[in-house]
Amino acid sequence: MADSCFRLAGNAGPGIIAPVNSAPLGFFDSGVGGLTVVRAVQELLPTEDILYLGDTARLPYGSKSPETIRQFADEDARFLIARGVKAIVVACNTATAHALPRLRELYRLPVIGVIEAGVDAALANPNAARIGIIATRGTIRSHAYQHALALRRTGLIIHGQAAPLLVPLVEENWIDHPATAMVLRTYLDPLVEKGIDTLMLACTHYPLLIPVLRDLLPADVRLVDSATTCAEHLQKELVRLDLLAAPDHDGKLEVHLTDLSDEFEALARRFLKKAPGRIHRAVLGGA
Ligand code: DGL
Repeated sequence: MADSCFRLAGNAGPGIIAPVNSAPLGFFDSGVGGLTVVRAVQELLPTEDILYLGDTARLPYGSKSPETIRQFADEDARFLIARGVKAIVVACNTATAHALPRLRELYRLPVIGVIEAGVDAALANPNAARIGIIATRGTIRSHAYQHALALRRTGLIIHGQAAPLLVPLVEENWIDHPATAMVLRTYLDPLVEKGIDTLMLACTHYPLLIPVLRDLLPADVRLVDSATTCAEHLQKELVRLDLLAAPDHDGKLEVHLTDLSDEFEALARRFLKKAPGRIHRAVLGGA
């Protein structure tokens, strides 16, 4: 990991700090679900160092109030900024939905969320007209996806479905359990009845459900998952900002969690599809 992460920018005005290419990317999520985004980014950008913060002591964010989510997101961002990251990826749909504009207002470094990329990917299909969104209650209630979609294309029919039981089912590793298929059908049937052509998986945990979703949904419903689309969006942003790491660098991952337990470690391995390495205990509020 780079030890000297910031330099003074020649063109950013006196005393303004600008990120350097060798600094890590900072990711945060309410827990370890955001590692699905990390996995997608590692596949696309293997040269990038990644510093990951999971706020496991305070998850879930999906059922918290907008004010609380904004406060938590701010503390998460500060933790990463204090460690010299060159950009922040809000690898949590609920935090992106409620806190992204505020983080962008507060901090001068690039802050990338999961919503814009997902919306762009959904609308990359010119025929997308009836869009279903499944997400936590907090994300659906924020209307962030619904607004972003409606702003980009008029005449869309959008159906948001809160799916609060899916996060615990994925965390229990009940992916292939009949109970998960039953819960999914309950959430999906109303969307399928409305004739959706696209389903947005607007939660960090849902990429793990893709094989089950494919079995349950009509073959012509397109799935858009926020992890892959965020990775592609991040790559474009790093190119645009000239912030890519050196092409010969071997990117490392460092994981920090606000609460450590064997369960989180096992879960992290499943989301990342490999061992996360040594996990550090994070204390928020201090540097
Ligand atoms: N990471 C959250 C999201 O993507 C799901 C878990 C939670 O509710 O904290 O919305």
